[in-house]
Amino acid sequence: MSGQPQGPAPTTTIGGELTVDAIGYGAMQLTGPKVWGDYPDHDKAIALLREVVAQGVTYIDTADVYGPHSNEELIREALHPYPDNLVIATKGGFVRGGPEYSDMSAVGNKQYLRQAAYMSMRRLGLDHIDLYYLHTPTMTDVPFEQIVETLAGMRQDGLIRHIGLSNVNAEHLQTALTITDIAAVTVQYNVAIRNGAAVRQIAEDKGIVFSPYHPGTVPGGPDGEPFHAVIHPIAQQHNATPQQIALAWQLHRTPGCLPIPGTTSVEHLKENLAAGAIQLTQAEVDATTGLSPEDS
Ligand SMILES: NC(=O)c1ccc[n+]([C@@H]2O[C@H](COP(=O)([O-])OP(=O)(O)OC[C@H]3O[C@@H](n4cnc5c(N)ncnc54)[C@H](OP(=O)(O)O)[C@@H]3O)[C@@H](O)[C@H]2O)c1
Repeated sequence: MSGQPQGPAPTTTIGGELTVDAIGYGAMQLTGPKVWGDYPDHDKAIALLREVVAQGVTYIDTADVYGPHSNEELIREALHPYPDNLVIATKGGFVRGGPEYSDMSAVGNKQYLRQAAYMSMRRLGLDHIDLYYLHTPTMTDVPFEQIVETLAGMRQDGLIRHIGLSNVNAEHLQTALTITDIAAVTVQYNVAIRNGAAVRQIAEDKGIVFSPYHPGTVPGGPDGEPFHAVIHPIAQQHNATPQQIALAWQLHRTPGCLPIPGTTSVEHLKENLAAGAIQLTQAEVDATTGLSPEDS
């Protein structure tokens, strides 16, 4: 039978206990060029973060490396004391030696990661971090298993409540699951880029929250034509924008999905949140899923 599949859940629960609205907000863009330094219009950034919460968002994604540090500080300035229902996820592991992306590296030893979590806590004005992500598994100073053990120790000590993994592959995730519970994963996954496809599948199978980043991106230009050929008619059908359909697809595609669209515009923020109410048909979900291979 074709027609409407059951609509996506309006909320997502992290680690079986922290329930948030299914569409979150990614704060990374509230920084300077190349995610370095302060967002140029400080007052606009503060107002935008307050609007994010006023619009009902209950999950914000940040990281110590966004700025570095300025993104977490901005969130504190705009929103502290936080509403009781707001979950702020942050990440550690990346370091930046300068304003170019080529200056990025990663560190994973125990003292560094623990210090990073303590400093994130201090900047955010929290006494623990609800969800703490390892931002990348690419560091080479210690083996991945040891890093996961460090995260497990941080949770045991109460610094962090739940562990997340960012930019990992399926093997990393499986390895981590032999060591400790993983509450959430975040990877780049959208209508065109499916880097996280294998991780998405494991997350779905194991009931782990799947938080795709760049979740509503629909490519433009000539490369975007095949995507728009499918998504535009669906968007017209729902009186929605292509980005809204891309976000709605995420929620239909993965139970326990927590997309984190980023925006500096209140109008786009409202559109992104409204995408949560769009009910796609199974045929629309399948057509969108079929736009890119899931072979990674
Ligand atoms: N774990 C990782 O390694 C990693 C990596 C990258 C990002 N992230 C996280 O993912 C979040 C999302 O990524 P992102 O900040 O690059 O944002 P994004 O969700 O990829 O969207 C960015 C672009 O889309 C535009 N946009 C947003 N909503 C739109 C809408 N409804 N219609 C049309 N255009 C729209 C934005 O422009 P406007 O500002 O004009 O709206 C911006 O140019 C980040 O904030 C960060 O928290 C994590």
